[in-house]
Amino acid sequence: MTCRRSRPEGKPASSVSSAGKWAAIGTAIAALVGAWQFRDRFADRIIDNLFRRPGGRVARWFYRDAKPHQDAFQATLAAIELGGEDRLLEVGSGGGTFLAWALSTGCTAKAVDHSTEMLALASRRNSSAIASGRLELHESDAATLPFPDGEFTAAATINAFFFFDNPHAVLAEVHRTLAPSGRIAIHTLATAPRPLSGRLHLYSDEELMRLLEEAGYERIALRRTGPAASAQLITARKPAAPSSSNGRFRRSIRSP
Ligand SMILES: C[S@@+](CC[C@H](N)C(=O)[O-])C[C@H]1O[C@@H](n2cnc3c(N)ncnc32)[C@H](O)[C@@H]1O
Repeated sequence: MTCRRSRPEGKPASSVSSAGKWAAIGTAIAALVGAWQFRDRFADRIIDNLFRRPGGRVARWFYRDAKPHQDAFQATLAAIELGGEDRLLEVGSGGGTFLAWALSTGCTAKAVDHSTEMLALASRRNSSAIASGRLELHESDAATLPFPDGEFTAAATINAFFFFDNPHAVLAEVHRTLAPSGRIAIHTLATAPRPLSGRLHLYSDEELMRLLEEAGYERIALRRTGPAASAQLITARKPAAPSSSNGRFRRSIRSP
């Protein structure tokens, strides 16, 4: 007597094993996609909590003095040339270390950040300047500044521009709040390692200069700085009078 293994009626043996194979492949793909999405969500969380809207213990520790950012603070401070008469605006002030350095030039300052925890840190760091009325901190989005027209003589934003989803609106707001001839310095990244790069707005030198030009700035100058020239430091001015630029502008790009 011969004995045969039964198989589902109407289905040839090859079809059964190929269905099993496809189910296994499907499961493997789902697991890979799941792992990929988990990796992506994890990267998003780290970048959000540490950089985009810093919060939590690690962020508070990092921004207490923001050591890795101090070269950028120094370069920006040198570029903006603050003095005792200046009224500075900082956009995305983080833990307030740059503000402390800027205030030591004798200027007064106002700053915005959308992270409550960073504002608390900056407030502790600069408590005497706040008490003496030389510094105000505001919780606000960079694209809607809570200040009147022409309030500032200088503006700076460091390691924050790459997070602004609407750079045109931010540059227009800074322009509005600057007095005639007010200057702006932006320190931002031209390149970044993955997975950071995919989550930032990175611009070529030309694109960055064009953004400032379109927002009405003049005397635009850009130089590369930082490790492997990965950062951009761009400076510009609001025209002395509304008509003075007359559609013309001067701009230059310098290598590190
Ligand atoms: C990478 S941190 C840099 C902080 C500080 N400038 C420094 O270099 O250490 C970016 C800062 O910009 C703030 N920021 C990002 N997007 C913002 C927005 N749309 N409006 C206001 N603040 C923003 C974040 O909350 C954070 O404090």
